[in-house]
Amino acid sequence: MGEIERNIFLIGFMGAGKSTIARELAKELKTERIEMDQMIVEQQKMPISEIFDQFGEEHFRDIETELVKELKNKKGVVVSCGGGAVLRDENARLMKENGRIVLLTATPETIYERVKNSTDRPILNGNMNVEYISSLMDKRKDRYFAVADYVVATDGKSIKEICTEIIAKLQE
Ligand code: S3P
Repeated sequence: MGEIERNIFLIGFMGAGKSTIARELAKELKTERIEMDQMIVEQQKMPISEIFDQFGEEHFRDIETELVKELKNKKGVVVSCGGGAVLRDENARLMKENGRIVLLTATPETIYERVKNSTDRPILNGNMNVEYISSLMDKRKDRYFAVADYVVATDGKSIKEICTEIIAKLQE
């Protein structure tokens, strides 16, 4: 694939595969990969769960917005977004201004299998079960679909298959 000008923002629920796919996609496209959560942890010098504990979710969302603004200076990079990053209109608008938004989906059962041993997802702390994941996903679903330029289902597919599908959609 030739040079890509616009950024690619991977969005979706926790455990949808954003980080895994971003890594492979960036490799295939020979471009930089940005992991939003990881950048926030490095900038703030504390884990995501501690940011939530000490300052609350709104503050975390403010940090996310600042980061999305910074990403406007980037060109042709693959960004793995935090699962809640597009919940704010402003963030989704900023992403659209210089990028395309790819939604990765998975069933609540698949998500549960992927995240069940994770302890650094404050949104799921104390709620690590399929029912909770399913109800939160229902609440967010419309939002995810509304902002997405492309949607790729990940259940039962290999990393390679998913990347091939994304690249094909981006070239459409
Ligand atoms: C969140 C998802 C997390 C992280 C934070 C909040 C969310 O990212 O940003 O815990 O609200 O869905 P991942 O989707 O990478 O787990």
